[in-house]
Amino acid sequence: MAKTSLKMAMVGCGGIARAHWNGIQRHAPRIDVTAVVDVDEDAAKSFAETVGARAYKSLERCLHEGNVDAVDLMLPHDMHEWGADVCYRAKKHVVLEKPIAMDVLTAERILNRAKHAGVKLMVAEQAQYWMDVVEARALIDQGAIGEVVTARACFYDPLKPFDSDNLPWRFSLAKSGGGISIDGGAHWIRPMRMMLGEIDEVVAATGRFIPEMEGESIAQAILRFESGVIGTFQAVQSTGRLGPIEDFRITGSKGEIVIERGREGRLMLYNGEHPEGKNVMSAFESKAASYGVELADFAKYVLDDTPLAAPPEYALGELRTAIAMYRSVSTGRWEKVW
Ligand SMILES: NC(=O)c1ccc[n+]([C@@H]2O[C@H](COP(=O)([O-])OP(=O)(O)OC[C@H]3O[C@@H](n4cnc5c(N)ncnc54)[C@H](O)[C@@H]3O)[C@@H](O)[C@H]2O)c1
Repeated sequence: MAKTSLKMAMVGCGGIARAHWNGIQRHAPRIDVTAVVDVDEDAAKSFAETVGARAYKSLERCLHEGNVDAVDLMLPHDMHEWGADVCYRAKKHVVLEKPIAMDVLTAERILNRAKHAGVKLMVAEQAQYWMDVVEARALIDQGAIGEVVTARACFYDPLKPFDSDNLPWRFSLAKSGGGISIDGGAHWIRPMRMMLGEIDEVVAATGRFIPEMEGESIAQAILRFESGVIGTFQAVQSTGRLGPIEDFRITGSKGEIVIERGREGRLMLYNGEHPEGKNVMSAFESKAASYGVELADFAKYVLDDTPLAAPPEYALGELRTAIAMYRSVSTGRWEKVW
């Protein structure tokens, strides 16, 4: 008989694990979290209490002893390949938090080995499930703003206070693979690809504004899409106060789509019919829900064989864009993404 629930281990009981757990509770009733794993025993124990699952210190031991069909890997970027390989050897399905890897060759190994192991892999990119982005894509297709002429993505990220004696792993290039572009920037690059198609080439400049952080905390890039449209990606990570700015602005020959940031999170459409702007949707709630919706999609993929909203290979696009930006910083030239 077909399984109706997916027994899952949550691995890495840090920041994003809370968002995944909240999402599972609200939107992914077919996921049954049976185990949690963290090398930090206290983190594992406390998260196990929250979740009502068994705590493990070792992923291998969890997969050997636990009742687990699938694993949600939420580890520092330099642990992604290791974690995926451990799961593949144990024939467990995998959700892997973004970025898929820190470089393209590792990402390709992670993708290929899932196929060889005969397990299902999803790269968690919750922006795929942001309803405002999905709706904006539909409006563009309907011609609501005419022909797209340019677009911009603005990622202004307030950084939480950190302990300078115990810096976050994200601040280390060896553990993170880069700064804001390869990391949170993925949530802005994915929607740009969803709305405008594949990115062909980029030219970028980056800056380091936070001395403790080895990767870039500022990135400015021009993206040329395969369609010929030129857009921009601006990313700023700051410990200071940040004023309001929209997430995305798509400009067409007849109007604009603006996806606002923050609690309002409105999708606004400006065109001849709506010169003052139409509030198409307020998508803040859907953004918050996106973690649960993505995990529900993973459960359907494993249990029912329903295709994911985006296959894991699609995540190569964000990684390749960030890496092409880094190449461009070195060469001072336009760099191809693919
Ligand atoms: N989608 C999003 O919005 C989003 C947001 C934040 C983080 N992330 C991603 O989630 C992943 C984790 O990030 P985070 O912010 O939660 O990090 P974090 O540092 O808060 O948590 C990572 C946890 O992994 C544990 N860990 C490290 N090595 C381990 C091992 N070998 N076995 C078991 N546990 C181990 C650490 O002890 C830590 O508790 C990264 O890929 C990151 O990019 C995604």
